[in-house]
Amino acid sequence: MPLSVEKIENGTVIDHITPGKGLRVLGILQIDSEYKGRVALVMNVPSKHIGKKDIVKIEGKLIDDKTADKIALISPNATLNLIKNSEVIEKRNVKLPKVLTAAFKCPNPKCITNAELVETKFLVEKETLKCYFCERYFKAEELK
Ligand code: CTP
Ligand code: ZN
Repeated sequence: MPLSVEKIENGTVIDHITPGKGLRVLGILQIDSEYKGRVALVMNVPSKHIGKKDIVKIEGKLIDDKTADKIALISPNATLNLIKNSEVIEKRNVKLPKVLTAAFKCPNPKCITNAELVETKFLVEKETLKCYFCERYFKAEELK
């Protein structure tokens, strides 16, 4: 039996998420127990394109470019579907950014960005991110 989730009216459907990463996507979107809109998380459902996938549907949420970049780091094939009045009015693929500014804190306590008021900056190199200031490498999973 297929696992069906009802359609949403206004908001965003993030489709083709790397299987298992849907929960992280909810974290990036800062969806927690305080969120009042309807939210669906579907994990490990069959996908025509990528074998298995996760899907996240959030009523009442729009995704800005910086958030889309963060999603790309953990799920490079994700598709963002903007839903208005129950119709998909825009579909875009996330794209791995080359640089991420002011998106995460640097986990290195000695990094200058943790001592002074400077925006963090990470250079994206395949699976890892390099802090522009302290030059340490981090996995996307380590950054908050
Ligand atoms: N969707 C939704 N609510 C709507 C419209 C669409 O939840 N009112 C969901 C669909 O269930 C689907 C995703 O948004 O998971 C994208 O919808 P659509 O483009 O119609 O589906 P596909 O053609 O299968 O998408 P793709 O070609 O990107 O795989
Ligand atoms: Zn640093």
